Amino acid sequence: MHDDARIVCRGQLPSDLCEWIEIPVNPEDAREGIAKRHFNAFFSWRRAQYPPAQTIFPTPVPHFPGRKTPADDYFDIINIFRDRRNIDNMHVYILFTHPSKISFNREVLDAFTRGLKEAGHTYEIGDLYAMGFKSEMDADQYHREVGLDPDAPIPHDVAREQEKINRADALAFIYPVWWSDCPAKLKGWFDRVLTYGYAYYYDENGQRQTKISIRRAIVICSTGHTGEHLEGTGIAESMRRVMINDRLLGVGVKEATMEILGGMMPQDRSSRETNLKKAYNLGKNL
Ligand SMILES: Cc1cc2nc3c(=O)[nH]c(=O)nc-3n(C[C@H](O)[C@H](O)[C@H](O)COP(=O)(O)O)c2cc1C
Repeated sequence: MHDDARIVCRGQLPSDLCEWIEIPVNPEDAREGIAKRHFNAFFSWRRAQYPPAQTIFPTPVPHFPGRKTPADDYFDIINIFRDRRNIDNMHVYILFTHPSKISFNREVLDAFTRGLKEAGHTYEIGDLYAMGFKSEMDADQYHREVGLDPDAPIPHDVAREQEKINRADALAFIYPVWWSDCPAKLKGWFDRVLTYGYAYYYDENGQRQTKISIRRAIVICSTGHTGEHLEGTGIAESMRRVMINDRLLGVGVKEATMEILGGMMPQDRSSRETNLKKAYNLGKNL
């Protein structure tokens, strides 16, 4: 039955993921969200079968004679594998923002990814400092965003980030709170990556639309103040309004929550264990 090639291997991802395969699916297909989830399930099933070093998707792969569209083939391919594993597992894009190799946030990242792995999710990490991500909006991109030069191309680094969002089911953000917000590098990621025409645009009826299809986002941020202090002063609520309501739910993310890992003053390790346990559980129960 599985004699002819229909799946195209696109090579290795720049992450710990072993491979990426491309299946011809109409991107306008209304079932795209479902398709993506099943695709990721297939992908992680495949990963479990073959070690990361093996990057070539083997042919032959399934072909279904008599099918009308590539999407039909796609769904049949998925159906072969969906019974073999839990299709609820997600692929998570983690935005990690911290300049130092020896930080509490790095431990949070380790604990969170340990939880994700144990739950069977796959992930890739965008370490914004390590990537040298350019967080400043320049004049060319600004002119594009405000409509002075609407046909200007999307910068390559921004397009790469949008691709990572496109292949994810979930987003996670891990960062220290600086002056009651995320570090400027991550703020610049939002400024530049959530572009007009992608994160939001207006259809012919003037309705706001988005091309982002993310099931769940989680924001894990550490603070020097305790969570109680930040709730009491209203700062926690303002952080949620901006990060969750505006930057995530406002661009089509279906569900988003923020977890504040408080009491993390430099030199004070008393809340460390409790907070790391929380981070692990957030990954495990995503
Ligand atoms: C520049 C800067 C600004 C900070 N601003 C805040 C703040 O507004 N609220 C707060 O609770 N903690 C603040 N902190 C404390 C950090 O959030 C805390 O040290 C950090 O979460 C600890 O994690 P790390 O070891 O990974 O850096 C600030 C720290 C720095 C360096």
